Amino acid sequence: MTDNLTGQPLDRVDGIMKVTGEARYAAEFPQARLAHAVLVTSTIASGTIASIDTSRAQRVPGVLLVMTSQNAMRLPNGGRPPLAMPAGRRLTLLQDNVVRYSNEPVAVVVADTLEHATDAARQLRITYDASAPVADFDRAKANAYDAPGQQGRAMTTQRGDIEAGLRDGPVKIDAIYSTPLQYHNAMEPHATTAHWDGPQLTLYDSTQGVSGASTAVSAVFGIPADNVRVISPFIGGGFGSKGSSWSHVTLCAMAAKQTGRPVRLALERPQMFGPVGGRPRTEQHLTLAARDDGTLTTIRHDTLSNTSTFEDWSEMSGLVSRMMYAAPNGRTTHRLLKLNVGTPTFMRAPGETSGSFALESAMDELAWRLKMDPVELRIKNFAEVEPQENKPWSSNALRECYAQGAQRFGWSKRVNTPRSMRDGNTLIGYGMAGATYPGNRSQASAVARILPDGTARVASGTQDIGTGTYTVMTQVAADALGFPLERVHFALGDSTLPRAPGSGGSQSAASVAPAVQAAARGARDRLIALAIADAGSPLHGLDPNDVTVDNGWVMSRSDPSRRDPAAAVIARAGGQPIEVVSSAKPGDEKQHYAFHSFGAVFAEVHVDADLGTIRVARLVGVYDVGARLNAKTARSQLLGGMVWGVGTALEEEGLLDARYGRIVNNNLAEYHVPVNADIGEMDVTFVGEPDTHFNPLGIRGIGEIGITGVPAAIANAVYHATGVRVRDLPITLDKVMPEAVRA
Ligand code: MOS
Repeated sequence: MTDNLTGQPLDRVDGIMKVTGEARYAAEFPQARLAHAVLVTSTIASGTIASIDTSRAQRVPGVLLVMTSQNAMRLPNGGRPPLAMPAGRRLTLLQDNVVRYSNEPVAVVVADTLEHATDAARQLRITYDASAPVADFDRAKANAYDAPGQQGRAMTTQRGDIEAGLRDGPVKIDAIYSTPLQYHNAMEPHATTAHWDGPQLTLYDSTQGVSGASTAVSAVFGIPADNVRVISPFIGGGFGSKGSSWSHVTLCAMAAKQTGRPVRLALERPQMFGPVGGRPRTEQHLTLAARDDGTLTTIRHDTLSNTSTFEDWSEMSGLVSRMMYAAPNGRTTHRLLKLNVGTPTFMRAPGETSGSFALESAMDELAWRLKMDPVELRIKNFAEVEPQENKPWSSNALRECYAQGAQRFGWSKRVNTPRSMRDGNTLIGYGMAGATYPGNRSQASAVARILPDGTARVASGTQDIGTGTYTVMTQVAADALGFPLERVHFALGDSTLPRAPGSGGSQSAASVAPAVQAAARGARDRLIALAIADAGSPLHGLDPNDVTVDNGWVMSRSDPSRRDPAAAVIARAGGQPIEVVSSAKPGDEKQHYAFHSFGAVFAEVHVDADLGTIRVARLVGVYDVGARLNAKTARSQLLGGMVWGVGTALEEEGLLDARYGRIVNNNLAEYHVPVNADIGEMDVTFVGEPDTHFNPLGIRGIGEIGITGVPAAIANAVYHATGVRVRDLPITLDKVMPEAVRA
């Protein structure tokens, strides 16, 4: 029998297309009579547009449209359909002249070439009635309010008796941890190409959800969702920012409608800072209480984060504190304050990234206070069951993650005193932290077709945001069909395909793979039935239980010499393709189990004793994510997440000028993300069992856990190296230097 393809470290099936440039991204689809749009954004953060003089712009050769709030088409309900997140967002669609944040869309200029559109966009003369923006987080605190529920989740949780827990635990950590504004910077900035054919709109869009984009854009125009087809075969990274359809998508479609031509609109890099989300600033008040033996008696985690002035969005940093440790008493709360910034959004592991920095830093502080090894402290407080809802874990190998991570890292060489490990002028620090992310799954559907030539085409309206969806779904489909990999073609990224959820919350593989498997198995079973019913087949009349498909042959299990090529079976049956559509969805398993992935991250940092510069020399991550569909793409996901964790720890920070409400470092030269030179040794391994309570493939999702825990592991290592506890990300040299240079 053929080897099982699922799980194998196969190369990406779309790899050659990507490296040869054959893979088309949203701004690369050719269109006859294509026009080019440039988005113009506000230079103030609060106020109104007093005037826009378009006369000079209109005179630039090739200009087709200067769209402002004066002449933009009117949308039903002001362009605000009653849609839930993530599809429904409060957009800026030039329906009024109000400015609510810096870099908010104020005009769209369309011309025959990008150069003409860019030139004309620079010729707009815009005057504003500006008011002072609310852009100072500390001052806005006075108006903080309780965050409303988000996507059906409670913002506040309580368990046990916090006061009793505080009395029972004499050893306390009570501290505030903060994380800065952060902005997604996918390699491919957002881009859309819009084309109307009568009432039918086609969008080539860089999106994490083709169905969601179709729903969102059709709702804004007040037209049926079937009239908006969204195509997105390749996406150069999304990370949550492309989980909602932001203003530019609809603006591009409006411009196409008003010019009567296909229009392409790609955001410029600085436009990634505001109009398309980002991670809000958080201030997290963590209180831990423990007995002298390290037993936690209370975890209290109160989060304050900013949103915009016009839409609520909460970074749910408290999520990790609800489930990570077995403290009997606990509380999590989330409050919001309003700033004149673009509304924040999902950004890789939204909540867990910022929250695990706070919780896992506090656990490290507690370990020092107790003079306990931080790994021991965590094992001591291991949650045997999910502590908030008291449900058993579906599977949980966190203790193995700690043990294997410590062993692979060489944790035993750590001297349990700050500033105790040194190599010449380099202070060396070891730190660790736990990582976690929930298992998420939604309903998905897929179609499998076996064609007369003996190949199969399998498809689902899911997305490959760079994670390897094409590859893993081809593997799953090939196994379920009994076909070799090269005879299976998988399609995705088209809202006309069977519906699948958005690629967010690390849910795509766990949601879509079961549907792909079911459709492919259904098609295989139909093929087998055709062969058995066919008097001309060597398999005629066999018991279906004795017949399988292997390597593209329909074959008797008991007598493999009785076999028939798939193409021959279909030809004799009349040459019609076999087609099966299936859908798969979660059952009631969430009522019985808690589904979480776990990991342990170990970091070695080197701090220059004179300059305070910090390098992450080594990262070791051990993860329990259930089964993996492809050992290579799975490892790549974790590597990417851990690299982002390094950036979160040491580099990323959107600098908001409180006077003007502008992000001043809105470019990749000054908004730092890790490059190769920032990354040392990386070691990623996996432990744990397939989580078959979650889905038949035993996979729990893999996209987001990699970033969690890493910032705390690095902060904890920096403390070990320098004796300086940095509770405010990013950990830049100025925050450690005064101490690092002493003696
Ligand atoms: Mo993820 S932040 O749900 O792309």
